Amino acid sequence: MVKELIRQALMARENAYAPYSDYLVGASLLAGSGRIYTGCNVENASYGATNCAERTAVFKAVSEGERKISFICIVGGKRGKKPSSYAYPCGVCRQVISEFADDDTKIIVANSEDDYEVYSIKEILPFAFSKENL
Ligand code: THU
Repeated sequence: MVKELIRQALMARENAYAPYSDYLVGASLLAGSGRIYTGCNVENASYGATNCAERTAVFKAVSEGERKISFICIVGGKRGKKPSSYAYPCGVCRQVISEFADDDTKIIVANSEDDYEVYSIKEILPFAFSKENL
């Protein structure tokens, strides 16, 4: 499953719309239903309107009725180069992932099918703000 998700994230990265940063990101996630969703970063001339790859994938999944992320995989790197350093999710994406994650959710940062690391949401977002706080 991990290798398949990495393959799909690398393919999604090909669709990245990143004319301003030239930093192309792809994400894939395995949702509760067993379906895989993918996403890429979508930049904007008004830079703050940019959407990260992970959030694109999460929003696609949730808008199709999904409510659980089992795995989410992220690959990123400069245009024209293969990913060579892990693209850890930004703070906003960690918060969005945590909404649909549990202790079993695996967050994978990868450069290739054979070069990746796996984390839990608690590792990358300790002391998260969640519905328990409300
Ligand atoms: N980016 C992502 O897609 N995911 C992240 O977690 C970090 C950053 C994108 C946003 C922007 O298009 C580019 O990478 C450079 O910040």
